[in-house]
Amino acid sequence: MADTSPLFEPLSVRGLSLPNRIVMSPMTRNFSTDGVPGEDVAAYYKRRAEAEVGLIITEGVGVDHPSALGEAGMGKRQADIPFMYGEAALAGWRRVVEAVRGAGGLIIPQLWHMGGFRLQGTGPYPEAMSIRPSGFWGPVGRHTSTPAAFIAKVSEPLPAPTDETVQDLVDGYVRSTAAAMSVGFDGIAVHGAHGYLIDTFFWAETNQRDDRWGGDMARRAEFAVQIIKGLRREVGPDRPVIFRYSQWKQHDYLARLGETPDDLAAFLEPLVEAGVDVFDVSTRNFDRPAFEGSELSQAGWTRKLTGVTTMAVGGVGVARDGQIFTVDNLDRVLARFEAGEFDLIAVGRALLSDPQFARKARTGEAFIPFNAEAYDVLV
Ligand SMILES: Cc1cc2nc3c(=O)[nH]c(=O)nc-3n(C[C@H](O)[C@H](O)[C@H](O)COP(=O)(O)O)c2cc1C
Repeated sequence: MADTSPLFEPLSVRGLSLPNRIVMSPMTRNFSTDGVPGEDVAAYYKRRAEAEVGLIITEGVGVDHPSALGEAGMGKRQADIPFMYGEAALAGWRRVVEAVRGAGGLIIPQLWHMGGFRLQGTGPYPEAMSIRPSGFWGPVGRHTSTPAAFIAKVSEPLPAPTDETVQDLVDGYVRSTAAAMSVGFDGIAVHGAHGYLIDTFFWAETNQRDDRWGGDMARRAEFAVQIIKGLRREVGPDRPVIFRYSQWKQHDYLARLGETPDDLAAFLEPLVEAGVDVFDVSTRNFDRPAFEGSELSQAGWTRKLTGVTTMAVGGVGVARDGQIFTVDNLDRVLARFEAGEFDLIAVGRALLSDPQFARKARTGEAFIPFNAEAYDVLV
């Protein structure tokens, strides 16, 4: 087994000291009835904190806007998503934070708005209008695993949000950040990826607005910029803002925000200026080259172009061959880490099935073989 000790070096981001480089990737779990995380959710995160995960990023949590959540085409994995607003949910989160902190861990929530993937008429506020920047859902018939029957339902055209509604959405992120800080989280993470709300503002195929929220790449980033600037003030100087982006969209796995490193630089620059401390670069394979002519991964390019602390993700500890199975590929993680491509490595599915993944990555003990039942239980 590889010498993983470099991954167990500490890292400071703003005032936060991470004991090592292994981060739990955000994963929707659907165990928070009426949006309220309970004792089982607290125990689930605590188990990972006890087993040396350097930083936990929670599942996506609904931001304070009635249009944030609903059915999103993920089968039964779409009910009982937690909220980051309201007394009951915040009391639940306070217990989660206390449990993780009691185990010596760090925890940051991921703020989520489903955007156009929310099926109109569903979720905690069924009467709320689903939000797509220009009203229409986006391209259909692309390379996607979203069921065609769901796309047929969700892609009914809706009115585009007014300028005032877009501003209300920004305010919702800021309010949820203030709420998260009030219960003691160690920073904030923003879901700007995968074709959900923020990503549809970035993407030219879904954002064709001609007001201040649309136009060239920099203008399409304005929604994210206003969110980051607004929540940056609530987070304060000592805690980090983590921003997740992806080239791929659930509408289209082959979609790209940038075809070249220059395009990527133009996309990232306004986000850096707005105050992002960590880029969480969502890819399906942490070591896939991002652009022709270079071996550098998407995370590697992000770090090289911005100099900002960067996290890679995708396929650590798991691989797919029809079914998902466990692999030990930490040697490949280390090779890229030591080459300076990223500062942090996020682990998703391997940490679902084996809560001890981080500790075992240090000690060399065998991982629990991946079992898809882990999706449906909180072990
Ligand atoms: C069950 C499940 C739920 C997920 N939910 C989220 C989510 O809420 N927010 C998010 O940004 N990514 C989500 N993801 C993506 C993961 O964070 C991660 O990027 C992806 O699984 C690839 O990492 P892995 O190969 O280590 O699992 C989810 C993935 C899984 C498997």
